[in-house]
Amino acid sequence: MNNSYALITGASSGIGLEIAKNLASKGFNLVITARREERLKKISNEISHEFNVHVDFIAVDLSHIDAPSNIFTFCSEKNYKVEVLINNAGYGIKTPFHETSMEDEENFIRVLGTSVIALTKIFLPSMIKENKGKIMIVSSVASFSPPSSIQALYGPIKTFMNRFSDSININYNHKGITSTALCPGFTVTEFHTASGVQDEMDRVPSFLKFSAKRIAQEGVDAMLSGKQICVPTKTYKTLVFLLKILPMSALSKLGSKIAPGRYDQN
Ligand SMILES: NC(=O)c1ccc[n+]([C@@H]2O[C@H](COP(=O)([O-])OP(=O)(O)OC[C@H]3O[C@@H](n4cnc5c(N)ncnc54)[C@H](OP(=O)(O)O)[C@@H]3O)[C@@H](O)[C@H]2O)c1
Repeated sequence: MNNSYALITGASSGIGLEIAKNLASKGFNLVITARREERLKKISNEISHEFNVHVDFIAVDLSHIDAPSNIFTFCSEKNYKVEVLINNAGYGIKTPFHETSMEDEENFIRVLGTSVIALTKIFLPSMIKENKGKIMIVSSVASFSPPSSIQALYGPIKTFMNRFSDSININYNHKGITSTALCPGFTVTEFHTASGVQDEMDRVPSFLKFSAKRIAQEGVDAMLSGKQICVPTKTYKTLVFLLKILPMSALSKLGSKIAPGRYDQN
């Protein structure tokens, strides 16, 4: 059997699940990961039957520091050659920054940041050896926006991840490896419920919300064609264009009108 695999983090729901299905429909074997083992098992069975590819899974919590090396060991022991790495897992923190513990913030940084760096680091050498590899980092439109008064670290980490993705491109494009930062806007997934902000999401007008399937489709196409940044949909492309040309002072005023500071209301 072909031992080339796409590894997808956060594939138990939302954008990660749709990316898994999209890649399987294109013939990729998959290793999927998230914390909810039963879901991963069910999804693996469903995808492998529907698309006739091999799908394996490993349940890990990416807030644990040894999770990336456990994933790597799992793939190595099974002789899975990871040619596509999708760093997608993520969530938001509803609790105001001054009320969270440092441990909450460190776990958050690990899931959205450190684990992305660790997985990329750990799988790069085999990609370099093969002279090919595709990496995707699921970032966000928030990476271009003024800091949100609601989530102190979410936007900054996504900006950091965009820059990290740029660094991978600068350093490894000549080795046949590309990295794509996928920057979706509001997407209908379990994210907002999991992050305790479903009420806020319900108030977002429907023209600003897109399906996870659409985001995955645009993201996978961009990744396979080696694009560095993908902002899915015309709506968010326009928004990001405006975010890039408007001065920060105007954006901050606009931002506080659209997403008024939760802390100020307490
Ligand atoms: N939805 C949006 O509006 C939106 C917009 C822009 C960017 N994004 C980004 O898109 C990515 C995917 O989010 P989504 O919208 O698809 O949300 P989702 O449906 O909640 O999916 C999040 C995935 O991450 C996994 N995950 C969460 N915490 C984890 C942990 N500690 N360890 C391992 N896996 C973990 C979840 O699985 P388990 O719970 O089973 O662990 C799940 O599979 C995130 O990086 C998010 O920041 C989302």
